Amino acid sequence: RLLIVDFGSQVTQLIARRLRELNVYCEIKPFQSVTDALLDEFAPKAVILSGGPASVRDENSPRPPQKVFELGVPVLGICYGQQVMMQMLGGHVERGDGTSEFGRAFVTPTEARIDLLDRWFAADREQVWMSHGDHVARLAPGFAVYGTSPGAPFAVTADLERRFYAVQFHPEVHHTPAGRTLLENFVRDAGFSGDWTMGAYREEAIRLIREQVGDAKVICGLSGGVDSSVAAVLIHEAIGDQLTCVFVDHGLLRQGEADEVVTMFRDNYNIPLIHADEQELFLGELDGVSDPETKRKIIGRLFIDVFQKYANEIEGAAFLAQGTLYPDVIESVSFSGGPSVTIKSHHNVGGLPEKMGLKLVEPLRELFKDEVRALGRELGLPDSFIGRHPFPGPGLAIRCPGEITREKLEILRRADAVYIDQIRRHGLYDEIWQAFVAILPVRTVGVMGDGRTYDFACALRAVTSVDGMTADYYPFTHEFLGETATRIINEVKGINRVTYDITSKPPGTIEWE
Ligand code: XMP
Repeated sequence: RLLIVDFGSQVTQLIARRLRELNVYCEIKPFQSVTDALLDEFAPKAVILSGGPASVRDENSPRPPQKVFELGVPVLGICYGQQVMMQMLGGHVERGDGTSEFGRAFVTPTEARIDLLDRWFAADREQVWMSHGDHVARLAPGFAVYGTSPGAPFAVTADLERRFYAVQFHPEVHHTPAGRTLLENFVRDAGFSGDWTMGAYREEAIRLIREQVGDAKVICGLSGGVDSSVAAVLIHEAIGDQLTCVFVDHGLLRQGEADEVVTMFRDNYNIPLIHADEQELFLGELDGVSDPETKRKIIGRLFIDVFQKYANEIEGAAFLAQGTLYPDVIESVSFSGGPSVTIKSHHNVGGLPEKMGLKLVEPLRELFKDEVRALGRELGLPDSFIGRHPFPGPGLAIRCPGEITREKLEILRRADAVYIDQIRRHGLYDEIWQAFVAILPVRTVGVMGDGRTYDFACALRAVTSVDGMTADYYPFTHEFLGETATRIINEVKGINRVTYDITSKPPGTIEWE
């Protein structure tokens, strides 16, 4: 296994992700925890020193133990990792004085070639992503330069004898297109065969959950979404019936959704599940409310109350399980204010753990969405479930602009089911990031048969996106849209007009409220 020593870079997790893509098992340890004893116990086959915000020129700047360089295994230093390596091995680092580089830069190879850069340069130079103030001014003994950039004469350096490699740029980020090749060359050099799998991740995650939880009880809020479901199934595999799930049915779910979730977890997986049917409560409190923010606040507050009420019935619960993903972790750190914070805090039942004196179990904290899906498949969750589009915490409430009534919710559910069925029939579901119907708070006049109708209008929404932060509308064909409109009007009583929302985000948002 490979050890990543984390010096606090924003992108350390990406190193781990790239290595998992290369089927190499790795663990990230904060630099404070990396002691001689840990190195003995971990016995890494290779070490990567991450980037970080500190300056090696500062007193007390973080360092790995000297022993890292005495293990006889390959070491790769990235950015701060490069500088700390040079400093500790006898080189010299200088503060940036006008030579800082942030963002795109180009590395040119030197005459001498090394395996680390094998298959690397597509042309005579390769784009990399830099983010550094300080830079190496003198190499440590044994090192030579193999790549340079205008702001970093020592962009790629190595001591081939000892198999120490150090780069100034970030090979792990998307904007260093050939970075993956560099990491691949590094792990091959270290002797990894690349046979690690998601199955091994599952085993390791189970071991860690058991270690953290012991024989305490855990509660998990299930939303029916992919993240909380994968977390629940994984935790159940680790600790069995010490886990109880709570599924809050706020009456704002899609057609058949509550049954699906309950059947899947209770009947197929035998996971103890409390089905909190609180539709009356939620719909009662939302009665007559039309302001979007007020709706969201009411739902958020009731959700926490209800969850707490049911959780209190579970005696001895000491942990709250959440399906927090790595992007949620980054976002909650780097955003302050703005709607994304509210979105995330609702999604992750923010504030609950402290209020209830519960500790958190977050087994997906290191994973990205596609990795969670892969883990879900590994755990045997059906593909149809794993590939589901995201669904917002406040549910259909924010797809029903204006006042929410049971009648409108029922019409919305039926229209949405027809629309999604159309998308699946046409094989488009996986191409679309999210699709749904919104019911509009207007009635319009139509003619059906020989009679006049005066029914609701609805809007279809379908977007492509990577992370939900920006989005574009999906370019359905006119045939598809026409056929779908006809089906909805024929099959759903209460709707006589269908429109297609072609707003991108920004300026629109994905949901209507
Ligand atoms: P917007 O409408 O802000 O949505 O463009 C971006 C993504 O977030 C989802 N969303 C939510 N998810 N709780 C959630 O868990 C919320 O309150 C919430 N509001 C929006 C939305 O469905 C889309 O995927």
